[in-house]
Amino acid sequence: MNVENCCIVIFGASGDLTARKLVPALYNLYKVGRLGKHFSVLGVARTGLSDDEFRQKMHEALIKFEQASGPELEAFCEHLYYQAVNTSDALDYAKLLPRLDELHDKYGSSGNTLYYLSTPPSLYGVIPECLAAHGLNTEEFGWKRIIVEKPFGYDIETAKALDIQIHRFFEEHQIYRIDHYLGKETVQNLLVLRFSNGLFEPLWNRNFIDYVEITGAESIGVEERGGYYDGSGAMRDMLQNHLLQVLAMVAMEPPAIINATSMRDEVAKVLHCLHPLSAENVKNDVVLGQYVAGTVDGEQVVGYLEEKGVPPDSSTETFIALKCEIDNWRWAGVPFYVRSGKRLPTRVTEIVIHFKTTPHPVFSQNAPENKLIIRIQPDEGISMRFGLKKPGAGFEAKEVSMDFSYADLASTNLLTAYERLLLDAMKGDATLFARTDAVHACWRFVQPILDYKAAHGRVYEYESGSWGPTEADKLIARHGKLWGKPSGAKKKAKVVG
Ligand code: BG6
Repeated sequence: MNVENCCIVIFGASGDLTARKLVPALYNLYKVGRLGKHFSVLGVARTGLSDDEFRQKMHEALIKFEQASGPELEAFCEHLYYQAVNTSDALDYAKLLPRLDELHDKYGSSGNTLYYLSTPPSLYGVIPECLAAHGLNTEEFGWKRIIVEKPFGYDIETAKALDIQIHRFFEEHQIYRIDHYLGKETVQNLLVLRFSNGLFEPLWNRNFIDYVEITGAESIGVEERGGYYDGSGAMRDMLQNHLLQVLAMVAMEPPAIINATSMRDEVAKVLHCLHPLSAENVKNDVVLGQYVAGTVDGEQVVGYLEEKGVPPDSSTETFIALKCEIDNWRWAGVPFYVRSGKRLPTRVTEIVIHFKTTPHPVFSQNAPENKLIIRIQPDEGISMRFGLKKPGAGFEAKEVSMDFSYADLASTNLLTAYERLLLDAMKGDATLFARTDAVHACWRFVQPILDYKAAHGRVYEYESGSWGPTEADKLIARHGKLWGKPSGAKKKAKVVG
């Protein structure tokens, strides 16, 4: 499917995401010929800027973040335009009408418009209403699609309310809730690995799998985003969306075909099967942490409470570890251990499928576990671990691995997550976007943790550069397991909130 001529309207055009991710993604698509020549990008924000000033800013960003140069960069920037709008004032949106007319005429884009909401979440309900006030949501003259960034709601109630607000002006087929993890090549590869090989699927269930680990570790702290992050925390920032979507890819049933409806039906189905957490489950099986000063990559870093924009008495979690289960035939009784945190020793997103051991250990009491490690990032790849004979006398088994790295596919030109998802949205393919029922299922799962934290909030300190509070190790150890990358010696955890 080709991209039709269209205008991409970015709300929040003066923000960080636009300069770091969105415009670079569009530029790269343009550079590799995926965008054609008949497109325009209209930046919208409150700040007063001319087209030239906006172009200049994006030009600098592209040089800085993409090392862009040459005639392609200049030619791409010609497609950029800007319109200052007071985004919370419906009347002011009238300014968009002549601008869009002019751009659709110039690029022959017949009214096709992709709105990207890269604004503070408080505007997610407002912008659709203001667009509708000027008929900018109707599809009589070209398609109208709206991409909504996360967070989609703040909890289950606000997520539902936001859906109602947006659905008053845009239909579900027009709404694209972006989760950039779904745009990652290796997350999609999970589906291909599972459903295009006869080898794995027969083993992919409670009969053969002992437990599943999902880790989303980051070595960075909250950087310049302390203000946003403090209202969010690891639960809303990573677990509710990215990690639960990854879990869904690991656990879902095969879709009948790969299209938006069947894929998203299966994703929603498995998320609905997440075992609801009782207060007792949360108490026993969820650990929240907050980083204190420490050393990451040999560099001394400050604690969360010393970060810019973070209140000095904040009890926001920067780490979460939990055990959850999926109540269906495939997964009954198989624990999924999920953890995510900032200021951990390294950046890695990884899924580890731990297979059950042999029923009868013929050769050795300590035969290595069979594991399938799916590395989402960095060094995207897959590694299978199993036991082979240790050379020499006797029959001792030793762990060996069979590794596949994406980097070995010489001619690969991987699209980044934003490139892939922007392209899909322009093509009208919603397969890799979160549907409303799936988003609600994720919130429903997370809500008891939010409630428990609000009532009894316990957040343990962990040293930057460690693998989180020791409580997280105890959580998994209680079930006789270990996290994939066990930490070294850690300090005794202290309750901070
Ligand atoms: C974002 C979160 O959605 O995902 C950030 O808001 C986090 O806090 C980021 O750092 C992680 O994304 P990636 O692609 O770097 O793993």
